Amino acid sequence: MVSKKAKVVIIGAGMAGLTAANKLYTTAGCKDLLDLCVVEGGNRIGGRINTSEFGGDRIELGATWIHGIGGSPVHEIAQQINSLQSEQPWECMDGLLETEAITIAEDGYVLDSSFVEPISNLFNKLMDISQSKLVTQNEIPNVMSVGSFLRRGIDAYWDEHVDELEGLDKRRKRSLEQGIFAMFESIQRTYTSANDLEMLDFNAEKEYCMFPGEEITIAKGYLSVIESLASVLPPGLIQLGRKVTKIEWQPDELLEIENGTNKPPVKLHFVDGSIMYADHVIVTVSLGVLKQGIREDSGMFNPPLASFKTEAITRLGFGVVNKVFLKLTSIPDGINFPYLQMVFHNESEQNPKIPWWMRRTANLCPIYGNSNVLLSWFVGKEALEVESLSDEEIIDGFSKTISSFLINSHSDAESMFKVEKVLKSQWGNDPLFLGSYSYVAIESSGDDLDAMAEPLPKKITSLHDSNVSPPPLQILFAGEATHRTHYSTTHGAYFSGIREANRLLQHYHCIDI
Ligand SMILES: Cc1cc2nc3c(=O)[nH]c(=O)nc-3n(C[C@H](O)[C@H](O)[C@H](O)COP(=O)(O)OP(=O)(O)OC[C@H]3O[C@@H](n4cnc5c(N)ncnc54)[C@H](O)[C@@H]3O)c2cc1C
Ligand SMILES: *[C@@H]1O[C@H](CO)[C@@H](O)[C@H](O)[C@H]1NC(C)=O
Ligand SMILES: *[C@@H]1O[C@H](CO)[C@@H](O)[C@H](O)[C@H]1NC(C)=O
Ligand SMILES: *[C@@H]1O[C@H](CO)[C@@H](O)[C@H](O)[C@H]1NC(C)=O
Repeated sequence: MVSKKAKVVIIGAGMAGLTAANKLYTTAGCKDLLDLCVVEGGNRIGGRINTSEFGGDRIELGATWIHGIGGSPVHEIAQQINSLQSEQPWECMDGLLETEAITIAEDGYVLDSSFVEPISNLFNKLMDISQSKLVTQNEIPNVMSVGSFLRRGIDAYWDEHVDELEGLDKRRKRSLEQGIFAMFESIQRTYTSANDLEMLDFNAEKEYCMFPGEEITIAKGYLSVIESLASVLPPGLIQLGRKVTKIEWQPDELLEIENGTNKPPVKLHFVDGSIMYADHVIVTVSLGVLKQGIREDSGMFNPPLASFKTEAITRLGFGVVNKVFLKLTSIPDGINFPYLQMVFHNESEQNPKIPWWMRRTANLCPIYGNSNVLLSWFVGKEALEVESLSDEEIIDGFSKTISSFLINSHSDAESMFKVEKVLKSQWGNDPLFLGSYSYVAIESSGDDLDAMAEPLPKKITSLHDSNVSPPPLQILFAGEATHRTHYSTTHGAYFSGIREANRLLQHYHCIDI
């Protein structure tokens, strides 16, 4: 007989936390068994989904794309709530279609698509092999990074494509091809959040799953999906501004007995000094926050997490990706900023006016057809640098980059495209995130993602008397970084929330509909 409701606390009101709350709250029979609440450290829901506004347009500072619509739960919700169309323009990146893109080198030299295509085909083929969409005859070592695989690929390409060019021409052609290849590598860095593709595990890349179909953005904003999940929850169930500082749990003892009453096994401490007891806690904080939390001086978990857990947290990668939006002063009628793909030079031919933090950014383009708002993505070191720069420094760096690239194709680029305002995301330094999304680093594997998802305490399978085993499912883990095949995405976070809700529903023999 259950005499009172079990207390379930979900930490984090992002995609994973709100999906779990939605599932637990809406499952028949569950309301009578569980006393549910969501505690969120920030002052808004959504987490790494952060729809905002800039220069009159709706933009996303965090999650942007539905990565493939076939089978995506995020797509299904967005469709149900009619969020895929809007009267207002939105960040739809329709111009990123390769046909409209123009590829230019940093000295303003416009590269013909017939020159770019072989390198783009080569890159896509290599990525298809690394994602197992294509098989290769060549032997792949056990431990190898995506970065070194790609480097081998372009070296082999150059060995096969010996042309008649000699001396300077040959060197110039090579150096441009190298720059184009590096541009595609920069795009891949954005997808993975790895500062360097040498840090990405080649063999794990195969396990990553993609949904079929187009990749689209959400016209009414990614936040509309989050709001829809939250809308079924009663007021007060989500508590904002409730940052958890410590989680005390009972890995190997019986319930703590205080004044003769059984207290639930988990005790949460909040930043304002308040506490809360729970039977079950679902932790959905980012991998970055967990990495910080397992450091000795942090002590987020007391006692510390089991070593299989801390090792997985340590080995997996968590990178920084930031978006920078620029608003241009009004442009003369009939003129649009191009969908610019940037090929940077290597070493000696570099324009010293272009700052180093621009040099691994692949694109600069309007957020829709004729928008005055431009967008670039930054990763790793460059993304962190951008967080630390003032708006003036960013505007200056971009302005010099724009005039250098567009010097031939758009005379007067400098006076025509003037940057007026800037808005950037700051995922790296925000203490509630400490980065953007996870990747499988070179010393890690898919097993670590599975370890991330294991609840604590671990089931005891020893010969000892089972009466002494601690209460089960004290700490459950959800979030993007706990999904073996869809990590790093909003739908991965969604699936993880459903998984952990189901774990509790099963434990309480609730009907799962
Ligand atoms: C720039 C950027 C672009 C992206 N682009 C895409 C994309 O195009 N497509 C895609 O599918 N995915 C994208 N993602 C990834 C996607 O946003 C995430 O995978 C997903 O939103 C993660 O959801 P989550 O619930 O796991 O974590 P989160 O959204 O991080 O939720 C965790 C919550 O916990 C809270 N929290 C943290 N610490 C505490 C604490 N101590 N106490 C209480 N609360 C705490 C946080 O404030 C947060 O709200 C992008 C992410 C970024 C940053
Ligand atoms: C529990 O015991 C402590 C002293 O041991 C006392 O200060 C406290 O008031 C007691 N609480 C309750 C609810 O009885
Ligand atoms: C730049 O060129 C040098 C020599 O040509 C090469 O070794 C190096 O890898 C190149 N750098 C990048 C970033 O590609
Ligand atoms: C989320 O968006 C708001 C503006 O809408 C911004 O102030 C905040 O810095 C953003 N968060 C991150 C981590 O970029």
